[in-house]
Amino acid sequence: MAVAEVGGMLASAVLKVATQKLGAAIAGRVMLQWNFDKDLEGMKATLESVDAVLRDAERRSIRDAAVRLWLRRLKDAAYDISDMLDDLENITSKSDAGKLGCVMIPNLTIAHKITLANKMKTISDELKEITNQHLSFRFTEDSSYKEHRVTDKRETSSKVEEALVVGRTAEKRIIISSLSKRMTEETVILPIYGIGGIGKTTLAKLVFNASNFRDYSKVWIYVSQTFDLNKISNSIISQVSESESQLTEREMINRRLDELLSGRKILIVLDDLWERDQFQLDDLKTMLKVGRGSRVIAIVTTRDKDIAEKICTTEPYKLEPLTDDMCWKIIKEKSVFEARDDKEQLENIGREIASKCGGVALAAKSLGYTLQPMKFDEWVSVRNNDIWKASTFECTSLPYHNVLASL
Ligand SMILES: Nc1ncnc2c1ncn2[C@@H]1O[C@H](COP(=O)(O)OP(=O)(O)OP(=O)(O)O)[C@@H](O)[C@H]1O
Ligand SMILES: [Mg+2]
Repeated sequence: MAVAEVGGMLASAVLKVATQKLGAAIAGRVMLQWNFDKDLEGMKATLESVDAVLRDAERRSIRDAAVRLWLRRLKDAAYDISDMLDDLENITSKSDAGKLGCVMIPNLTIAHKITLANKMKTISDELKEITNQHLSFRFTEDSSYKEHRVTDKRETSSKVEEALVVGRTAEKRIIISSLSKRMTEETVILPIYGIGGIGKTTLAKLVFNASNFRDYSKVWIYVSQTFDLNKISNSIISQVSESESQLTEREMINRRLDELLSGRKILIVLDDLWERDQFQLDDLKTMLKVGRGSRVIAIVTTRDKDIAEKICTTEPYKLEPLTDDMCWKIIKEKSVFEARDDKEQLENIGREIASKCGGVALAAKSLGYTLQPMKFDEWVSVRNNDIWKASTFECTSLPYHNVLASL
């Protein structure tokens, strides 16, 4: 089995999550005053159309960075939809109506509705753009893919629902203690590295929100594949000063950073660093060494060990896979396992599926959602699927890593 297909399986699992949740929301007769259900239908149709070309996209993503970025953007949009529907579920499950499996939106406050409407608008615009881009990919000859520059609009944020994070308490403690050992240094840069979907960003969020840093100013930056030092600096300035900064001159930026950060304690997360150029990374390092008498803690997440080693001031932390038990816990949670009548029968099969996730949280989560509406024999066929034979997540062969990277 080609390695690309393994990645395809995971990518389509992510898509399925979103599509299924959309389906459920629609089936649950979303009762709305605004036309949310139309929006949901639209999103579902778009996702389904994209699903059709996913395999081809995965194949091309091995060689083509633009396609890779497109896939990532698609994944992020699918996550956004899932998250939005989770929010919706949270709000509605607080009312009695939610229990009937029937989403009663009239109970929402006006503020909720406005937020929701805005979110849906943003997501469906983004989806439309993603679809447009996929059309242009399809219509273009091989050689000119690269002209299509895809912008990665996705930003992670520091928000995390800690109760839903399985394990990682020891890891969190290690990071915090290794930071506190370096209290005397003005600038500490501690990278967390590990393969895609393993939970680096999630761990960074746990540390970011830990009570140990209560008296720190906090800055969360999603770096992305397009490294732009000015953007990063301006983002630090904006978040610390709580007013938009768009300085363009390096000199001005440094001055502003210096005056803002002097004597301050700051915790910065630089999430998802891909830049490997030593000069750029040195500039970033220098930029973080600002302010008199300040204390800057920077946590960097990256998939790449080399990048981690280039940017660090203290030994990088390698994030290891979750245990099979933890993956099973995630799958159970996402597939609403405990509510099933056939859970005794499914337990062993489920555990076997979990053990095939290779400790990758993303795989467990996606599979959990995929398994949720499935019946016993479908669980069996997921377990029996040959795709797993190729899924050695430890494998370092380049193509597979690239496919996983695209997720
Ligand atoms: N310990 C965990 N328990 C439950 N869910 C988790 C856990 N770790 C990660 N997840 C979920 O798995 C998904 C992937 O996690 P995350 O984004 O942290 O991975 P990552 O290593 O940062 O991936 P990437 O390299 O793509 O940035 C997310 O949806 C996250 O919520
Ligand atoms: Mg991440």
